[in-house]
Amino acid sequence: MKATNVTVKVWDPLVRIAHWTLVSAFFVAYFTEEELLTQHVWAGYTVAGIVIFRIFWGFTGSEHARFRDFVRSPGVTMRYLGDIAKNRAKRYIGHNPAGGAMVLALLASLAAVTFSGLEIYAIEENAGPLAGMVSNGANNPAHFTLLPGAYASDDTGDEVPGSGRESAEEFWEEVHEVSANVTLFLVLLHVAGVIVASLSHRENLVKAMITGRKQPRDRTGEE
Ligand code: HEM
Repeated sequence: MKATNVTVKVWDPLVRIAHWTLVSAFFVAYFTEEELLTQHVWAGYTVAGIVIFRIFWGFTGSEHARFRDFVRSPGVTMRYLGDIAKNRAKRYIGHNPAGGAMVLALLASLAAVTFSGLEIYAIEENAGPLAGMVSNGANNPAHFTLLPGAYASDDTGDEVPGSGRESAEEFWEEVHEVSANVTLFLVLLHVAGVIVASLSHRENLVKAMITGRKQPRDRTGEE
């Protein structure tokens, strides 16, 4: 692409702030666990807040932040990937089709990580926004976690042997661990995709996610 000094605004400030806050919060949460539970939980809340905001912003935000601007069919996405491999992919001013698919995959996996984290926090610590739903308080003999089933507690709040609390805990721990690792894998793929697309279109996408600006469209067929 021909370089000029003229740039156009692509990513609004909220998209950029949300992105770089998400990057920091995700890594803080990933590398802190039970030993630093407070930090882990607050980083997780930050991730959850950003996921909720980003979904809302996908319907109400600026032009290139909207889902309708970057969610493309699997066919278009596969064709883009094929074209990238042949180094003849069309440049997109917002997310390219593969980048758009990655945004959806990241939001889905981050939603799974944070929701399972909230379930574990409620079951183990009786804390967080789901605590009321899964708490083992003395006055309620049976409580429900959203999955996989109810568990009972006695007057002291201890679990009644044979109830489903332990299996609920194990279930959500498994979901939490698997989804966190799937997210890490997606992040690595995402960063690799950013590098490949930057090289292929000869533009610095990381810089664009910082400044919010890109070179304008200057070729026929660009979107
Ligand atoms: C140092 C590591 C990272 C770099 C360099 C990076 C870079 C970028 C860039 C350049 C874009 C815009 C891509 C485009 O132009 O289409 C982007 C988008 C995005 N990235 Fe990252 N990223 C990183 C880590 C992460 C992590 C850890 C997450 C999530 C856990 C993440 C989630 C996202 C999401 C959701 C978007 C879409 C932004 C939006 O439309 O709101 N990124 N990233």
